[in-house]
Amino acid sequence: MVKKTKKPSNPDLSIKLCGVMFENPTVLFSGIYESPQDLINASKNGAGAITTKSVSIGLREGHPQPRIVKFDHGFINSVGLKNPGLEKAKEELKKMLLESKSPVIASIFADKTSDFQKLAKEITEVKPHILELNLSCPNVEGEFGRPFATDAKISAKVVRAVKKVSKKVPVIAKLTPNVLDIKEIARAVEGAGADGISAINTIGPGMIIDIKTKKAKLGNKRGGVSGPAIKPVAIRCIFDIYEAVKIPIIGGGGITTGEDAIEIIMAGATAVGIGSAVYLRGRNVFSEICKEMKVFMKKEGYKSLKEIRGAAH
Ligand SMILES: Cc1cc2nc3c(=O)[nH]c(=O)nc-3n(C[C@H](O)[C@H](O)[C@H](O)COP(=O)(O)O)c2cc1C
Repeated sequence: MVKKTKKPSNPDLSIKLCGVMFENPTVLFSGIYESPQDLINASKNGAGAITTKSVSIGLREGHPQPRIVKFDHGFINSVGLKNPGLEKAKEELKKMLLESKSPVIASIFADKTSDFQKLAKEITEVKPHILELNLSCPNVEGEFGRPFATDAKISAKVVRAVKKVSKKVPVIAKLTPNVLDIKEIARAVEGAGADGISAINTIGPGMIIDIKTKKAKLGNKRGGVSGPAIKPVAIRCIFDIYEAVKIPIIGGGGITTGEDAIEIIMAGATAVGIGSAVYLRGRNVFSEICKEMKVFMKKEGYKSLKEIRGAAH
């Protein structure tokens, strides 16, 4: 009788984040795709979850073109939070919830706490799986107009205001890396009731100058830096946040390959945000990253992501 050799089992990439099941940990980061159809297609192409671009109460035209410029190790963008405003965004969200194969994370932003609360109330009525607060935008009520996420107290105030109206929809605070101590901000939002944290938003602002024309390449001159160049900062931020809080983390920033995804999970991420890699590797990036993760896991003998999460601590 021929003895059957046991095949190594297929590693399990499924995760549960804030009570929501994802088939795999990849999450399309906010703002990478604008049209609802592109987001829906990302879910069909293997994204474990999709995040809408950040929406404000009123329509925003965004900054002058060009809004996104590639450099050797990433991108610099000054999209300026261009979006169609709340009413249109609600319609788009309904379509995505009907047609997406994976959970939908709705991202909102405002320049005052009361507007964050109003947006949260209206958007959660449409019942996205998760609500994400983009706290990287300037707070016009503050003395210096600094981004919410650079101030622990203000970030906590926004989360508390949103939690009062968000009912059963889990609330995730998206943090900026542009702070001295990201642990302090993470603890503050957790203390205010956030169900999870997403990080990192872009680094900077940065600038790229065209040496022939002697002019900045972006229409808005300055913009946020993303892509492979920022990965080491992202890994450190997730490592720090994991040490500081118990709530789950969507970790990303420059994640481009399956091995990058494993690295950020070892730093402490539960899910993995994929942004600029969509521009670098194309629409199949989600399924390709999952395949690459499985290759590594099989080789190293890991069966599930639980064995890897936070392993670098
Ligand atoms: C063109 C572009 C638009 C973005 N728009 C948003 C946005 O609307 N809301 C948000 O929270 N982050 C936005 N981001 C930041 C990304 O969601 C992500 O946090 C950042 O790019 C880092 O990840 P990456 O290196 O994988 O791109 C944007 C990034 C890019 C490149």
